[in-house]
Amino acid sequence: MTERGRFITFEGIEGAGKSSQIAPLADWLRARGRGVVTTREPGGSPIAERIRALLLDRANTGMGGTTELLLVFAARAEHLAQVIEPALAAGTWVLCDRFTDATYAYQGGGRGIAQARIAALEDLVQGDLRPDLTLLFDLPPELGLARARRRGEPDRFEAERLGFFAAARAVYRGRAAACPQRYRVLDATRPLGEVTAAVTRIIGEFVESREDYLSANDD
Ligand SMILES: Nc1ncnc2c1ncn2[C@@H]1O[C@H](COP(=O)(O)OP(=O)(O)OP(=O)(O)O)[C@@H](O)[C@H]1O
Ligand SMILES: [Mg+2]
Repeated sequence: MTERGRFITFEGIEGAGKSSQIAPLADWLRARGRGVVTTREPGGSPIAERIRALLLDRANTGMGGTTELLLVFAARAEHLAQVIEPALAAGTWVLCDRFTDATYAYQGGGRGIAQARIAALEDLVQGDLRPDLTLLFDLPPELGLARARRRGEPDRFEAERLGFFAAARAVYRGRAAACPQRYRVLDATRPLGEVTAAVTRIIGEFVESREDYLSANDD
């Protein structure tokens, strides 16, 4: 039987460096013989990308919080069924740029939706599926937004006030502190190459701990 792939998520506020770190890690894992897919949320499949466009479009400023939450999870259901679940089942590692922690941070922290409501949808859409490992790229929102805004026109989220991102960051940090087995927090204020080195070290340790676990359970 094929061993299931690992599901690794990249989290953090705008400009934290998530997208910059995914490709180097994918290359690093492929060089070690692992099948890898990289993907992102919201989006990652054709229908989910169309929902992403709705979510990011500044013409939709004023969208209701519940509408936004349901669209995020509708996109996620599609992405899971079309991309993530088949890849993991085939033994491929999935590196995903944002996942449900972002929903807790943005729709929960940022928009003020109760965490329990989000948890109910998480159970509905994901069943038992949770990331095996989550890298949290942590930095002050002022710095992240300054980086993100150098890219050009802000999308519907990037146009939010600073307090929105401060709240999102606080939720991210709280979730990481509550579950150190799953989360690794990286100092995203460090230069790009240093953050890449930290990611590689963390994943190296993760791979080794898994191999230890597997060999310990061989006999
Ligand atoms: N450690 C770093 N130091 C300096 N600049 C960085 C660092 N990491 C990323 N950047 C730059 O900041 C900008 C945003 O990075 P990136 O797109 O990777 O962030 P992100 O977390 O994916 O943001 P978003 O959530 O908006 O997609 C890019 O121009 C990138 O080159
Ligand atoms: Mg990005």
